[in-house]
Amino acid sequence: MAKPRSQYVCQDCGAVTAKWAGRCEGCGAWNSLVEESVQAAPGGLSGRGKAAGRIQFVDLKSESQPRPRLTCGIAEFDRVTGGGLVPGSAVLVAGDPGIGKSTLLLQVTARMAACGSTCAYISGEESIDQVRLRARRMGLAEAPVQLAAATSVRDMVASLDHPASPEHPGPAVVIVDSVQTLYIDSLESAPGTVSQVRAAAQELIRLAKKRGFALLLVGHVTKEGLIAGPKVLEHMVDTVLTFEGDRGHHFRILRAVKNRFGPTDEIGVFEMTDEGLQEVANPSALFLAERRGNVTGAAVFAGLEGTRPLLVEIQALVSTSPQATPRRAVVGWDSGRLAMVLAVLEARCGLALAGQEVYLNVAGGLRIGEPAADLAVAAALVSAASGQEVPEETVIFGEIGLSGEIRPVSQVDLRLKEAEKLGFTRAWIAPRRKQAKGKATAAAGAGMRVEEIAHLQDLVARLAAPESDGRSGGDSGNRRQQAYEKAR
Ligand code: TYD
Ligand code: MG
Repeated sequence: MAKPRSQYVCQDCGAVTAKWAGRCEGCGAWNSLVEESVQAAPGGLSGRGKAAGRIQFVDLKSESQPRPRLTCGIAEFDRVTGGGLVPGSAVLVAGDPGIGKSTLLLQVTARMAACGSTCAYISGEESIDQVRLRARRMGLAEAPVQLAAATSVRDMVASLDHPASPEHPGPAVVIVDSVQTLYIDSLESAPGTVSQVRAAAQELIRLAKKRGFALLLVGHVTKEGLIAGPKVLEHMVDTVLTFEGDRGHHFRILRAVKNRFGPTDEIGVFEMTDEGLQEVANPSALFLAERRGNVTGAAVFAGLEGTRPLLVEIQALVSTSPQATPRRAVVGWDSGRLAMVLAVLEARCGLALAGQEVYLNVAGGLRIGEPAADLAVAAALVSAASGQEVPEETVIFGEIGLSGEIRPVSQVDLRLKEAEKLGFTRAWIAPRRKQAKGKATAAAGAGMRVEEIAHLQDLVARLAAPESDGRSGGDSGNRRQQAYEKAR
């Protein structure tokens, strides 16, 4: 028998080459090619004389009601999935190792099981005792979850692939933790390689569609933030949720990055405690809780994550650099966007920042993607450079254009309402869109001093010349503190 041919598969992007190389030509990753044996090459249709079956076409219109979504009662999770899990769908939950994926899914499973759905939790990483121990610690030891420790996909398919009958309703939800531990015995490569992960996921997803259970796959991400092994996995599943957070902080954020059955901009905020993950119903209060008043280089951004307003503090530090190329470091925001804001400040407002080191940080470990944060970032930078504080009770939002103009942002009302609720009394915002103007002033921000900023120079002027007014005193700081306490 001829020796099986080998090929080299990039574990990051899935690109295939015939020869080994130190660097993948597809994605540029170093040392990511792994040898795998070539499976039988697929022949064209003309080759074999196999009889073809007929596909049945049906009407789009249907009388039968779709099966209801499965909710778990953890509001932060249900919202991110778009209102619950869809029967027969596949969800990938991706995140760094140790971030809390197993913890989250065990809690979700336990809650769903408690609501009456049959739930199966298959762990390939932990033994049954370990899962039990964890469940006991989180007070979920009594939940009617079906538990198994397995890694062979053949075994899983054989066990789950029987039609549901009234006596034996198949599981409605199946959790597989994690996809990197799965293996299919017909493939030669090791568990965790692209071909194994892809084939295993494919088998399980096919089964989920056939049997109508919701499949939740856990996937670890690599240090570059890619879903380990296959980007391809993202195309195969219906929903991709990422679970992120800073190990140094106890906040965890669940984000939908792809969702065939719901919006992709929603986030769920959790706090990791000794008893597992707790929902955070009011994240703004949490993200602002560690804020100190009267510091230069800090500005509060009234942002929007999905349908929910979220207030976060943006911190900046500007210092003279001993190096020829000053350092620019960003945590929680896009570095390209920072370069743009710095360039606009320099070119349109005459601020000399080119020779300075610039550090920017979004407090609390959150990642912001909205362009509306531009103005708050600029305010933090200008304040850090000028040494003039942003008035303490002020929220800021607006997008910056290349000529320095401030462009309107969406959902002004929602942002102002959240700020008002948390005790902020002043807002520096982008000019409102014409038609929204009358409505917005009546609805939101009525108790606030709302100032529209038309150009970045206006902002620089405000932070250069201290303004004395009766409203910014210790009194409002107290009021804000009380509002936090109430909101939490
Ligand atoms: P885990 O869910 O095992 O992470 P993953 O499945 O994403 O690899 O979470 C592990 C971390 O969570 C670990 O560092 C301990 C912490 N943790 C708590 O702080 N409290 C808890 O109740 C649990 C179960 C875990
Ligand atoms: Mg785990």
